[in-house]
Parts: sequence; C-alpha cells; structure tokens
Amino acid sequence: MTHVFHRDQRVAYPVAVRGEGCYIIDSQGRRYLDAAGGAAVSCLGHDDAEVIAAIEAQLRRLPYAVTSFFTSEPAEALADLLASGAPPGMDRVWFALDGSEAVESALKLARQWALDAGEPQRSQIIARRQSFHGNTLGALAAGGNEFRRAPYAPLLVPMHHVSPCYAYREQAAAESDDAYAERLARELEDTIHRIGPQRALAFVAETVSGATLGAAAAVPGYFRRVREICDRHGLLLILDEVMCGLGRTGALHACTQEGVVPDLLCLAKGLGAGYQPIGAVLIHRRIADAVASASGAFQHGHTFMGHAAACAGALAVQRAIRDRGMVERVRERGHGLASRLRARFETHPHVGDIRGRGLLWTLELVRDRATKEPFDPAHGVHARVKEEAMLRGLTCYPMPGCIDGRRGDHVLLAPPFIVAEPQLDELVDKLAPAIDAAIAAAERK
Ligand SMILES: Cc1ncc(COP(=O)(O)O)c(C=O)c1O
Repeated sequence: MTHVFHRDQRVAYPVAVRGEGCYIIDSQGRRYLDAAGGAAVSCLGHDDAEVIAAIEAQLRRLPYAVTSFFTSEPAEALADLLASGAPPGMDRVWFALDGSEAVESALKLARQWALDAGEPQRSQIIARRQSFHGNTLGALAAGGNEFRRAPYAPLLVPMHHVSPCYAYREQAAAESDDAYAERLARELEDTIHRIGPQRALAFVAETVSGATLGAAAAVPGYFRRVREICDRHGLLLILDEVMCGLGRTGALHACTQEGVVPDLLCLAKGLGAGYQPIGAVLIHRRIADAVASASGAFQHGHTFMGHAAACAGALAVQRAIRDRGMVERVRERGHGLASRLRARFETHPHVGDIRGRGLLWTLELVRDRATKEPFDPAHGVHARVKEEAMLRGLTCYPMPGCIDGRRGDHVLLAPPFIVAEPQLDELVDKLAPAIDAAIAAAERK
C-alpha cells in the first residue's frame, strides 16, 4: 500500500524511474514517449546534462537564501536574461514557484498597482470562460473551467467571465475573423461598462488557450482589440503564458505573435522545464515604477520564491533555448507535427478539429464530425485515450469538458522541443490506435 495520497485514489500509477531524451522509463522497464512534455513542461527532455550540471554547481555553492534578506547571482542573471528577451518595456521579473503562484502574484500585483496609482476603487477582475489559470483559490477564481471550479465555488472570490476565443465552436459559419473578434471585443467592453470602468482592474487571458480549451489560438486581431479596450478603460492586461510561453508556440513569447504587449506576463512550466519548479511574472516597467515610487514594496512573497538552485536551473534552461536555436526548432518540428496530424486525422470520422501552434496541438474528438456532437461525457473518452496511449508507450494529455466544462473531449500534445522527426512518426503511430480503441470502447456502451 502507498502512503502517498495520489491525485486519483483509484489509479495504480507506474513508478517513473529514469528519463532519456523524450522518453520516461518506469520501474518495469517500459518506455513512454512523452508527447505531453509532462504537462507542457519538459521542453528539453528528461536528461539534459548542462542543466543538471548547473543545478548541481549551484547546490554546492548555495542552495537557498531567503529573498527578504538576500538576492542571489542566479536570480539576478535569470532576471537579466528574461528581461533581455521580453516584450518591449517588460524588464522587471517577479519569481514564483509555479504557474498558479505566478498568476496569484499577478492578480495581487495588479491590485497593488491600483492602490499605488491612486485608483483604490479598481478591484474587479475579468477573465474568460473555459480558461485555466491554476488551482490555488485566486487563480481558480479567475479560471473559467466549470468542472474545476464547481467543488470550490463557495470559496472563490467573485470574478467576471466573458467568452473565450474558440473559433471551432463559437465562431458562426458566416462570421469573418474580424467580425468574430469584434463581437468578443464588444462583449468585453460591455462587461467593463456593466462593472463600471472605474472599478475594473484587469483582464486575464491565456494567449493561446492551454489544457481546458486545447491549444486554441485567438483569431487575428482579437488581442489587439482587447489591448485597445484595456487601455481605453485603464485596465491592466494580464496574459497567462504559463503553458504557451517561452518557445512552445514558436515564439519566445506568444503575445508577440498577436502583436500586443501585456502589463503582466505569467510564465512557469517551460521556464524550469521540469528540472526545477519555478514560475515568474514579467512586469511592465510602468507598473513596477508606479509601485516603486508609491508604496515602494510589493506586499506579497513566499518562502521559496527566487530559490537559488531553481533560478540556476531555469537560467541554464533558458540559455539552452536561446543558444541551441530551440524556438526555430519548435517552428520546424511544429510543421512536422501538424502535417502528420493532418495526414492521419483530417478525415478521421471522430476528429472534429485539429488546432494548434508550434509544438502545442490538440485533436478535438467528436461523435459526429458533421454536427460536432460530442461524446457522452459518461463514456469518459478522454480518460480511455490516456489509458490506451500509456498501454502503447505514449503519454499524451487528454482532457474533458472543452465545450462547457463537462461535454467535449480533446487530446493535447506538447512534446519536448528536442523531439526528432522519427519520434513524431512514433507519436502519431501510437496515438491513432489509442484513439480508435478508446472510441470503439465508448461506442460499445
Ligand atoms: C495556462 C495555465 N496557467 C496556470 C497554470 C497553473 O500552473 P501550475 O500547475 O504550475 O500551478 C497552468 C497549468 O496547467 C496553465 O496551463
């Protein structure tokens, strides 16, 4: 019997013992091609010698010094590196332990900015339905995933939710991209008017939607309209690139593909690439300066933030991303993955949509392609895909509820940036029968 209180008490998890490039090996010697990168984390695979050496070296020098007394060399160097590649003006960095904490920090920093900017009436956060920003209470309150929110609803502070940009299901057949973006922009602006523009604090969105909607990029022009509206009414724009940032979509920052600069940009996952747990918020200097010149201190912090060994690991990861041309590689391999997914699934009777960018892709599974009718949630198609894939030596990231938190099944793919072309063949060769087996089981019900 295990003493670990695992996520799902009904599952006997294999014991992962070793990593080798894009593979995880369990205690029975089974090899799993990691097509999910853990959860869009392990961009350099599982055994990068340079990153491991950098962490070891830092541990020998100094593992940890609390940030209320000291800064550290790796924290300073990592902040310099992040600032040097950041969108214009975003040259301050707040460290966190993971994605949820980065989002929590961004929400609190937005509020502190309002106080320091002399606008204490600004407190209302607007986010999107079908989003995910983390599982801590503030991040969960911002998130719009009904399934994840429901059990904790009585504990969540009220926030406002507008429509996501989910073209496959929510863009009308005759609606142009411009008209769709405009409709969503109007909904945001109407919401701000309803709240009262002076009370609205920030709009939060994933630049490319991650696990909940499944690799859904916005239609062109959507984020520019959002930025204009935030500027017009004095809201901060907080972009969550915890999953889609730091190269995953084929740009260092996904917001540059949308032509916008946010006020706060949340990062995690690929920042430490699984070698260390670490998150960060890139802060526009306009926000940082407002705090610095008023209260002078951000009234927030956690014991392990800016952990020296974590920063050393993330620094080595981010140097590798830059020095080894990883962002270009994501674009190349992304084309390779997209073309294989299209070749294999474009006419598949149960794949309704193939969407994504860079090395972040999703197959949305449907019962009927023509009507987009989803599978009955009771059949748990997503869970079966995960099981069938693991039986075949593949980890992918299937999720339920992309339509409304309950209905809809999709399979998210986020392989390591180091993935090789033959491994993309292996990915598709294992995924296709796993999907077919899962659907056959659902149809027998
Ligand atoms: C977009 C997004 N934001 C925030 C989070 C939360 O990150 P973490 O699980 O590291 O707390 C996630 C995790 O999947 C995410 O995808």
